[in-house]
Amino acid sequence: MAKVKSRFICQNCGAVSNKWQGKCDSCNEWNTLIEDVEVAGIGGGPGKPLRKGRVIPLTSLDGETDQAPRTITGMSELDRVTGGGFVRGSALLLGGDPGIGKSTILLQAASHLANKGHKIVYISGEEAIDQVRLRAQRLGLSEAKVRLGAETSVEDILATLENEKDPALVIIDSIQTLWTEQAESAPGTVTQVRASSQAMIRYAKKSGATIILVGHVTKEGQIAGPRVVEHMVDGVLYFEGEGAHQFRILRAVKNRFGPTDEIGVFEMTGKGLREVHNPSELFLGERNNTAPGAVVFAGMEGSRPLLVEIQALVSPSQLGTPRRAVVGWDSARLAMILAVLDAHCGVRLGGHDVYLNVAGGMKISEPAADLAIAAALTASLANVALEKEAVYFGEVSLSGSVRPVSHAAGRMRESAKLGFTKAYMPPLPEKAPKSDLDKTIALENLRELVAEILTKNANKE
Ligand code: TYD
Ligand code: MG
Repeated sequence: MAKVKSRFICQNCGAVSNKWQGKCDSCNEWNTLIEDVEVAGIGGGPGKPLRKGRVIPLTSLDGETDQAPRTITGMSELDRVTGGGFVRGSALLLGGDPGIGKSTILLQAASHLANKGHKIVYISGEEAIDQVRLRAQRLGLSEAKVRLGAETSVEDILATLENEKDPALVIIDSIQTLWTEQAESAPGTVTQVRASSQAMIRYAKKSGATIILVGHVTKEGQIAGPRVVEHMVDGVLYFEGEGAHQFRILRAVKNRFGPTDEIGVFEMTGKGLREVHNPSELFLGERNNTAPGAVVFAGMEGSRPLLVEIQALVSPSQLGTPRRAVVGWDSARLAMILAVLDAHCGVRLGGHDVYLNVAGGMKISEPAADLAIAAALTASLANVALEKEAVYFGEVSLSGSVRPVSHAAGRMRESAKLGFTKAYMPPLPEKAPKSDLDKTIALENLRELVAEILTKNANKE
């Protein structure tokens, strides 16, 4: 009999070590190494080859291909993020904090599809049948013909799915609760999560059903379990939101069959998640347009323009090292804007605490927000309210020049639609189409904008 070898796997990063250690060498986490027995097959090494390999035919890149067949849910915000519906035979991972609404959105999508006549199986490993039924009642979806089961054994789930005859969509809530007899470690460990995912993904490929795996998120905001699950699936979606706000954003961080920069916006209501088709209105809803340091940024999320309010507060610091607190934006990028304001525009914030907030719990990663952020910081320092009918966008370089950004026309069109009349922005190329706004102010350098804001302050006094 082959000798059974024991090894230790870090539950945080998946690194393998031959002996137990208190701290993982790879990710420096404490107490994350757990013993695991190495066996051949799923979750283990390749073992001894059972048969000689066969030669597969190789082919060329061009040739007839079919578009991936998709199951369209009819929830347009969800379909937008998946790139036009769930691709048959693919596996998706949906991650998010506990209580954010993962089970809710999936139950809603499942009912939509079931009502259209698709066969949908919902396997809950976390909640009992009654709990899922109660949720369905609350959502008014009890009538939908979703096939519901509460089970955690991969073997039993696979047998059930075989018996169901080709479901279109299978939802597993959640992957951390599954366990398979093919791996020997306890449920929830890296080996089990990986082996169970592998078995479910293999089922998806074989049967042509779409599999959605729900994944928990760790304190650090990553889907718990090894990163390899993210590599194994065809798409990774994150469901996020700020605790105090009712909106939820569905974001694709990996998608083998579509774009990854699209977002879907939902609002959590007493009757489940409501799709928000015009998110700009929602994000600007609570706007206080006379506050100094508040500006509207004309942003883009994928192919859709999205207007959000950015708020800055600067105040003289009582501390040796002033505070820099950022919500919804990159703090390294804030440091850069502060340096440019200081070096090229004479706006000195070295002795001030700086707080920056993107309203509504939105997270922005576009450099196009630079100009809006610089305007908000300067206005807060000068204590002037900026024009309430203006939007701002543009990237700022280290030299202080304002650089063009993509989709300028789309940003202006959305601003005009929401009643704005003026944009502070990078210069447009000569042959750009006419803007939808009454007034566009093309800035070559950040200095021009800062000078304008400071003049306003001087006129005020
Ligand atoms: P849930 O889908 O169970 O979250 P997850 O599966 O991501 O852990 O959502 C739970 C939260 O959503 C819970 O705090 C209550 C809230 N909720 C509503 O506000 N309205 C609703 O209609 C439903 C079903 C849930
Ligand atoms: Mg849940």
